[in-house]
Amino acid sequence: MKRNSSHVSLASEAEINLDLSRLVIDKPRFTLERKRSFDEQSWSELSHRQNDGFDSVLQSPAFPSGFDSPFSMGTHFGGPHPLVNEAWEALRKSVVYFRGQPVGTIAAVDHASEEVLNYDQVFVRDFVPSALAFLMNNETDIVKNFLLKTLHLQSSEKMVDRFKLGAGAMPASFKVDRNKKRNTEHLVADFGESAIGRVAPVDSGFWWIILLRAYTKYTGDVSLSESPECQKCMRLILNLCLSEGFDTFPTLLCTDGCSMIDRRMGIYGYPIEIQALFYMALRCALQMLKPDGEGKEFIEKIGQRLHALTYHMRNYFWLDFHQLNNIYRYKTEEYSHTAVNKFNVIPDSIPDWVFDFMPCRGGYFLGNVSPAMMDFRWFALGNCIAIVSSLATPEQAVAIMDLIEERWDELVGEMPLKICYPAIENHEWRIVTGCDPKNTRWSYHNGGSWPVLLWLLTAACIKTGRPQMAKRAIELAESRLLKDGWPEYYDGKLGRFVGKQARKFQTWSIAGYLVARMMLEDPSTLMMISMEEDRPVKPTMRRSASWNA
Ligand code: GLC
Repeated sequence: MKRNSSHVSLASEAEINLDLSRLVIDKPRFTLERKRSFDEQSWSELSHRQNDGFDSVLQSPAFPSGFDSPFSMGTHFGGPHPLVNEAWEALRKSVVYFRGQPVGTIAAVDHASEEVLNYDQVFVRDFVPSALAFLMNNETDIVKNFLLKTLHLQSSEKMVDRFKLGAGAMPASFKVDRNKKRNTEHLVADFGESAIGRVAPVDSGFWWIILLRAYTKYTGDVSLSESPECQKCMRLILNLCLSEGFDTFPTLLCTDGCSMIDRRMGIYGYPIEIQALFYMALRCALQMLKPDGEGKEFIEKIGQRLHALTYHMRNYFWLDFHQLNNIYRYKTEEYSHTAVNKFNVIPDSIPDWVFDFMPCRGGYFLGNVSPAMMDFRWFALGNCIAIVSSLATPEQAVAIMDLIEERWDELVGEMPLKICYPAIENHEWRIVTGCDPKNTRWSYHNGGSWPVLLWLLTAACIKTGRPQMAKRAIELAESRLLKDGWPEYYDGKLGRFVGKQARKFQTWSIAGYLVARMMLEDPSTLMMISMEEDRPVKPTMRRSASWNA
């Protein structure tokens, strides 16, 4: 593992003097009735080495002092699992080469499947867990090549019929087009013009920035992120989301299907997945943008947006028992600045299931908040990203993990992790999905269980000091994944059944498992995708501790 972070000169948030802690906010509205979690003694039981101070994440209150970072594979599990070798072998089979160089991994290597659709492509979001696995294995070239190839694809002209997309749009996926006669190869990207539903992936650009930071943070090589091409690429992506318009909210307005959930699922508006990735990408960009010329302007804009976004998300998207009770008692039709029910949410619109689902201990970020609309569904990706990016306050992060613990059967069941909870059924399914036969109740995006989410759950567990919870989830996955041929997703309330139309040998199921296991074996690797808490920063500090440790 490379640790020459002394070379790293990425600007920290300290340098631009952004003090997010001032932004917040009302005192947390929930009291933490901390009952003893099954993880409270975990770190001391699992730890064997001294914390090397590698990342301040590991010095956060979530980590008791003396937390260590066991490097040897298999420490937590009593020896390497046979699945690990199988997984690496399968992951390697998914590598895509372009002109002799590895540039990504194909979405699924499922020879048995009749329909290939676009699963033979390299998806930007799907490649992220593969990239993290390769980085952790010190195979950094494939990640660098991927970042550069997608960056070059960004500069191509993107048309949907006769409409030209913004310059900053990043592809959902790409493939290598081979002309055997001429012996040539070129890359063909899909920015949404071929995608089912013709939706552009809003998440791709954010994942690209997040991955660039992970690469830089892990390798200590700043030459890539500081290159004029990467600086420009970041500015173009940010330009798409920081431009002024008619918005009254700092969150990003999106169409349905613009992220991992890439079909109509009623997430149009301000979906949590995009807001959490947006927040994280802004913070990553802030560390990497050079404060010269155009970069300076973007740094200022990002600071302002983060200020408003943090406030909005932590206040209006947060739901716990107390807040649910407030909403339940909301008055409506309030006009003026003094309104408590700012978005005019009608209490009758609260679905019945929430009252049973909401534990006394715990909370989560809502699926969506917009005028007169709250989507009360729980979404895994957005909530986990909120934890790793520190969009969630430390108290909120603890509460999200408490909720997962309290609602283990519903959210984890027999296969981690439910993409969203609960499923929509019957008439609602007809209206919301447009009768989508792939998104029937408890299947696929509609309450299906996705093994890829295991790495995000593990990262959230590590960040909040609950390794036993991650271990339990990983062991559940291990009992099925290989046997079932690494499915893309599972169906059913408990996630017991291999998904109806799930691909086998789905690469991000494989990579997600590897990343989860490696992260738990060596929690210091979390620093690749974890952002520090937004605690007050001393103005004299030139660089954040995490870069210098
Ligand atoms: C499905 C998923 C999407 C993923 C793609 C390739 O369309 O919904 O999130 O990127 O498959 O695996």
